[in-house]
Amino acid sequence: MGETAAIVATQDVRPPAPIRTDEFRTIRPQIVGPEAPEPPFPIALHGPVQRGFGRGGKDLGCPTANLPDESITPISTVAKTGVYYGYAQVIPPKGGKPVLRPEDTKVLPMVMSLGWNPFYKNERLTAEIHILHEFQSDFYGVEMKGLVLGYIRPELDYTSRDALIDDINVDKLVALNSLDRSEYRKFEKDPHFDLGIMD
Ligand SMILES: Cc1cc2nc3c(=O)[nH]c(=O)nc-3n(C[C@H](O)[C@H](O)[C@H](O)COP(=O)(O)O)c2cc1C
Repeated sequence: MGETAAIVATQDVRPPAPIRTDEFRTIRPQIVGPEAPEPPFPIALHGPVQRGFGRGGKDLGCPTANLPDESITPISTVAKTGVYYGYAQVIPPKGGKPVLRPEDTKVLPMVMSLGWNPFYKNERLTAEIHILHEFQSDFYGVEMKGLVLGYIRPELDYTSRDALIDDINVDKLVALNSLDRSEYRKFEKDPHFDLGIMD
């Protein structure tokens, strides 16, 4: 494995991200990772959803839920930057506004980007989770749990926004294919999640 994201964060200069080439696109596998998660996976994350720059939904058609810095440590200290897959769950706030429907609070497949978003040249390390589900409204401030189960690819720099969108769409398919294996599906029922509220 390369350097963990936490080690790269201590350095003054970030290593440049590879630029996505058309060749990379044509050789992308449709399923990734071993038949069962291997260390350091599963990695459990949780924290209140924070606002990012808001580009995910607007620019990319892929809204992301950002985790606060302290919630990133369990993954940034053991894994390199990149795109990951797993499951996530949004925990309905007790007595809060009813913005979440029962189907929004199930354990759902997710893709996660950990890094500095080289295409946007972010200054701070972020962990952004895109849950593969149509939510009807934002849920900033609401508690989210994640279980990261595997690595998909490095973060890349892009010559166009469309190329980034194409790759994110492939990431979503790769995540669904990779989770659709018995040793990964088991984690949908992991005690890390709040299973009592599921139907
Ligand atoms: C599955 C997935 C893959 C991503 N891959 C990359 C990438 O390779 N390069 C990059 O610069 N950003 C990547 N991103 C991050 C997007 O640039 C980021 O989510 C977007 O800028 C929205 O950020 P915001 O919510 O802070 O506005 C990825 C995001 C997701 C969800």
